[in-house]
Amino acid sequence: MTQPAKSKRFRVALSFPGEHRPRVEAIASALAGTLGREKILYDRWYAPEFARPDLDIYLTELYHDQSDLIAVFLSKEYDEKEWCGLEWRQVRDLLKQKQQDRLMYLRIDEAAIRGLPSIDGYLPIRDMSDPDVAAAILSRLGIHPNPIADQAAVPHPQPPAPNPRSFTSKLPLVNPTLIGRDPQLAFLDQAWSTPATNFVQIIAAGGTGKTALVDKWFRRHLGEAPLFGWSFYSQGTSPDRQTSSDPFFAEFLPWLHLDIPPTASVYAKADAVAARLRDERVLLILDGVEPLQDSTGALRDSALKALLQELDTANRGLVVCTTRIRLDIPDDEPRARSLDLDNLTPEQGAEYSRHRGSTGITC
Ligand SMILES: Nc1ncnc2c1ncn2[C@@H]1O[C@H](COP(=O)(O)OP(=O)(O)O)[C@@H](O)[C@H]1O
Ligand SMILES: [Mg+2]
Repeated sequence: MTQPAKSKRFRVALSFPGEHRPRVEAIASALAGTLGREKILYDRWYAPEFARPDLDIYLTELYHDQSDLIAVFLSKEYDEKEWCGLEWRQVRDLLKQKQQDRLMYLRIDEAAIRGLPSIDGYLPIRDMSDPDVAAAILSRLGIHPNPIADQAAVPHPQPPAPNPRSFTSKLPLVNPTLIGRDPQLAFLDQAWSTPATNFVQIIAAGGTGKTALVDKWFRRHLGEAPLFGWSFYSQGTSPDRQTSSDPFFAEFLPWLHLDIPPTASVYAKADAVAARLRDERVLLILDGVEPLQDSTGALRDSALKALLQELDTANRGLVVCTTRIRLDIPDDEPRARSLDLDNLTPEQGAEYSRHRGSTGITC
């Protein structure tokens, strides 16, 4: 990570839509406990200074030139707001200047934001506590005031992560309502909390609710370990499938700070990832693996096959795959486990229909 110049006036500038002011103010206060208020650009703390003509130009300079890091709180309102539109232009300008190290995206909801490339990592904060969000921002600044996040720390020190600790923007967006599924959530909880469990596959026909289950589950565990989520389908509802794991490795290797040339063999890439995940506890979610499988369930993609074979044997975290066809990774409790997901019971189905009716859910 390029070290930001320390001479800037602010360590972090907060950009947010007014609707979320109470939450952002609580996060700003938590940050101030470590950084001091004078190092945080939070507008309300500078009311007299900001009472001036041409405030937009003045603020632009403060965000663009006088802040080490801009924490951008994204939400539906962010896209709609004129004021944020101004700050958003600064963000896009930094992106153009390849200064993405100075940006941190925090998503309050799942709204699409114009101009935000879907590959950009962001931290979903909907289910995070305010102190945890503050800790994540501090960690981007290389400050670790509270060792909670380091419970699973490896014995040797890690460099500060230039990426947010979780990458989930490739996962499909799902409605957060999950009916039933308590036993399945408990199954996943148990797998996650059992060090000897390395691999879980969730198997069911399309539309049964695999993605919805995994989405609900991982959001409960955000912040416990770095999380990388990937879908082998293109974003959205398009049936486009990926036919190789190349885009996955192209994203995952740099996220893990592994400097492997793109021309390296698929085995070199898989080996490097596997070696890292034997050291570092990471939650890896691979959603919709079937495009890379043949009709017997075997993986057609050699790199992913090599990786899963190694991770299934040993890794400090957990790999959770969802698929329509059982992968040829045999169950071997507690190391490798599988979950056949059934359809909702008729009662749960009725509840689902009522819910759809009452909220107008269309997805
Ligand atoms: N238990 C559930 N409660 C509420 N909605 C659900 C549930 N399971 C699935 N859904 C909804 O059904 C649709 C299909 O689910 P999805 O998880 O995408 O299926 P799959 O990943 O198995 O193809 C989604 O709109 C999802 O939100
Ligand atoms: Mg799915």
